[in-house]
Amino acid sequence: MSQPGTSRPETAAPGDPAHGAVPWSASVLTLFPEAFPGTLGLSLAGRALARGSWRLEVTDVRDFATDRHRSVDDSPFGGGAGMVMRPDVVDAALESVARRPGPLVYLSPRGPLLTQQRVRELAAGPGIRLLCGRYEGVDERVLEARGVEEMSIGDYVLSGGEVAAQVVLDAVVRLLPGVMGNAESPAEESFERGLLEYPQYTRPAVWQGREVPEALVSGHHARVRQWRRERAEELTRQRRPDLWRRYQQAAEGGDTKD
Ligand code: ADE
Repeated sequence: MSQPGTSRPETAAPGDPAHGAVPWSASVLTLFPEAFPGTLGLSLAGRALARGSWRLEVTDVRDFATDRHRSVDDSPFGGGAGMVMRPDVVDAALESVARRPGPLVYLSPRGPLLTQQRVRELAAGPGIRLLCGRYEGVDERVLEARGVEEMSIGDYVLSGGEVAAQVVLDAVVRLLPGVMGNAESPAEESFERGLLEYPQYTRPAVWQGREVPEALVSGHHARVRQWRRERAEELTRQRRPDLWRRYQQAAEGGDTKD
């Protein structure tokens, strides 16, 4: 595999920075730099990273510690369990990415939930800067002082922001030009039309006595489309009444996007 930015593969799609534009750029600040690229180094995202379709810069927050123990955290004022990441250390780390592109985001269960709409916005921008917390979190003052946006990937608590950062990057990177093999796929999948995705089938046509739905092997494109739409609507209605309500409202207003 060639080094990032050095090759112009024939597979580069229009808009793909492998054609020469500035690539979408992710800067990650973490106490565990070895956690990256993690799964982002695999498959389509990994190949896109290797050919320079997006960039990943990982910064070790501990490099900005100033005492001889290289400490990055301390006990919380007011008492309580755990440790809090120090504002001076985090601030110096954030300063090191001050000129990198994109919103400055702290992964935290307190943030607004990440949605496919936000993922699309991020993919349309120049990049993102992600601060991963550990322990009991980060001193609030540095989040205020730097105007950091918070972002949650779900209503549960992880032991740190690294896995959440990889979730955000995975969701965004696959939407970048030239990253996914089949450019048609995103429009079909869950959330892109405000519906969950219809079920998928492949060979063999009969498996353990279970047949593939007849419409899908009919060869009639209109029937296939209708079957898929009906299944997507049925699944959404049954499993996600919240999405279904929004979908219906949007359909009444003539807009099926969100
Ligand atoms: N850090 C810990 N829990 C998290 C969550 N649910 N989302 C984002 N970052 C987190």
